[in-house]
Amino acid sequence: MQTHHQLFLDALNIGPEWVLREIDVPSKEIPQTVSMMDWETLEKTVTACQQCNLCQTRTQTVFGAGSRQADWLIIGEAPGEQEDRRGQAFVGQAGQLLDNMLHAIGLSRARNTYIANVLKCRPPGNRDPHPEEIAQCTQYLHRQITLLQPKCIILLGRFAAQTLLQTASSISKLRGQIHQYNEIPVIVTYHPAYLLRRPEEKAKAWADLCMVQGLAQLA
Ligand code: URA
Repeated sequence: MQTHHQLFLDALNIGPEWVLREIDVPSKEIPQTVSMMDWETLEKTVTACQQCNLCQTRTQTVFGAGSRQADWLIIGEAPGEQEDRRGQAFVGQAGQLLDNMLHAIGLSRARNTYIANVLKCRPPGNRDPHPEEIAQCTQYLHRQITLLQPKCIILLGRFAAQTLLQTASSISKLRGQIHQYNEIPVIVTYHPAYLLRRPEEKAKAWADLCMVQGLAQLA
């Protein structure tokens, strides 16, 4: 049966009548900003990350490892082949050297350190990280640092040092001094993979570790 309203419109020769329908708007989950995430959400977000092309070549992401109550944060460059395969940071040859270096100054990844990388995905063939990959990925590292609140940060190699300290200076210029990241003391040293290639530089790395030990006594 036609309503009065429709009869009226027909009489005026206006039609068809437009009626508002209920439509299904898919409810979109509003993505949480990385700077608000807790550890679990951050880890899940990194696991699913597709912000750069490295997601196409990785086996899996490498989030970071160690105690989330650690006073010491060690930051490397990016997962290598072994890390990409096993999903854990510094598990290859460079990782073994890192463990020995930490052990020598009374630190251990099981007890008092957390280990993370600038990039969470392996660059193919272990090539250098691209600036756009670093730009996309560092938000995760910054959040890890905020959540961890370490008492001291050790940066391994050029990419970690230049990214966190926002500088283009070389490792040789940056090591030997205490830097700051958001009021957290930062020490820069050589990457263990570099020390494996250039063992003659281990003496300098040892000097850096002695600085770390000095800081540990203050922490
Ligand atoms: N090199 C890094 O910088 N990070 C790793 O996790 C492994 C090798």
